[in-house]
Amino acid sequence: MKDLKPVEIVTELDKYIIGQKDAKKSVAIALRNRWRRRQLDKDLQEEIAPKNIILIGPTGVGKTEIARRLANLTDSPFYKVEASKFTEVGYVGRDVESMIRDIVELTVNRLKARQQDEVQEKAAKIAEERILDLLLPPQKSKEVKHDSENDQDTQTLEEAEPVPSTREKLRKMLNSGKLDLRQIDLEVADKSSPMVEIFSNTGIEEMGIDIKGMLGNMMPKNTKQRKVKVKEAIKLLTQEEASHLVDMEKVKSDAINMVEQSGIIFIDEIDKIAGKDSSHGPEVSKEGVQRDLLPIVEGSSVPTKYGIVKTDHILFIASGAFHVSKPSDLVPELQGRFPIREELHSLGAHEFTRILTEPKNALVLQYIALLRTDGVDIEFTDDAVEKIADIAVEVNSTTENIGARRLHTLMEKLLEEILFKAPDIEEKHIVIDAAFVEKQLMNIVKNEDLSRYIL
Ligand SMILES: Nc1ncnc2c1ncn2[C@@H]1O[C@H](COP(=O)(O)OP(=O)(O)OP(=O)(O)O)[C@@H](O)[C@H]1O
Ligand SMILES: [Mg+2]
Repeated sequence: MKDLKPVEIVTELDKYIIGQKDAKKSVAIALRNRWRRRQLDKDLQEEIAPKNIILIGPTGVGKTEIARRLANLTDSPFYKVEASKFTEVGYVGRDVESMIRDIVELTVNRLKARQQDEVQEKAAKIAEERILDLLLPPQKSKEVKHDSENDQDTQTLEEAEPVPSTREKLRKMLNSGKLDLRQIDLEVADKSSPMVEIFSNTGIEEMGIDIKGMLGNMMPKNTKQRKVKVKEAIKLLTQEEASHLVDMEKVKSDAINMVEQSGIIFIDEIDKIAGKDSSHGPEVSKEGVQRDLLPIVEGSSVPTKYGIVKTDHILFIASGAFHVSKPSDLVPELQGRFPIREELHSLGAHEFTRILTEPKNALVLQYIALLRTDGVDIEFTDDAVEKIADIAVEVNSTTENIGARRLHTLMEKLLEEILFKAPDIEEKHIVIDAAFVEKQLMNIVKNEDLSRYIL
């Protein structure tokens, strides 16, 4: 994990998120505190709990975006979950722990993929040898097998003496792609094992038992003989070898360690589980969900199929609009576990203008890049961008305030015609100015009913 200073974290976040200074500052501090904690003695480390954060603010102002970017920045395991999900019908008590299982699963997969990338070269080499073996079997015993297959190509090749020089010649041909289209017989793993699937999703995982893996291992490995082109065979075998080369035990323990030490869990819509329950309806009690959340946030051991995960030092970032309820409506214990409250501000025209153009992934830049693939260059004048921002503010105030998300719907509507016609358009350079924006959007904006549907 990179040990960025708080200032550096904020600078990095600034590349994607406009404004919201205070929120950026407090997440930066929380992250740095984790690093600080790791520098301490073991005993003291155990004593220091992460200071979890509640981000408060209306929809579409960057709450999720801040947390997500933060995780990317530091390469921390990140998982987002909606608190309201746990109040839905069908919820069973222990389900809150599923967030831990999910973040571990995610991290295991990510580490596995990364490891596979690392061994790619080695795997490709082994795969190459295996393909050469198939094309030119080194031993008698294999020849017999291939003869029975009645494979024209392999037969003719087998007649040649399998001396090293032939193998090297073949290797050259293989590497230059000359053999790409030749068919060979390949044993491939048959992935369809329906028996195993039946067992997933029944809550057995909650006990931390990897039923699927166990059964999978007990059952005979299904393989299928398939005729495939050499080109595909290289890919298949490289993949297979790569997964053999990955040390799964290490991946699992690294993943658990990463989650425990630097995991970030983002609990969205926490305000939806705060406050009094409605006395009727089949919903699970909000307070019940809060009570279930408590041990996880406070630190407990959650069994997963990859091992026990201690949640003590996972950083929890909760977020919510808190229009109706207040953070003080949460059960006191939970409040105590989220000592940092940060309010995000609703965004105005000035911020929208900047959001449209400044972030690395700014919307304007996205559309320019998209249309360039069709050979069309679009250019936005400054007053066009300002106009879009103004319209966003207006629509947000007349209909519903959805924050920066409004910019997405506006841009899509604005460029609809161009996006539709781009491949055949005569003009290869289009300037989008305030007049164009006005022409495309004003009619809809003026009609409140219409904009409710379209923008
Ligand atoms: N301050 C900002 N700077 C740049 N982009 C922003 C900002 N706020 C929001 N956006 C953009 O708006 C979209 C929605 O933002 P985000 O998902 O962070 O909203 P949110 O605050 O989590 O809302 P909700 O409460 O609905 O979950 C994202 O695509 C994000 O890029
Ligand atoms: Mg969000």
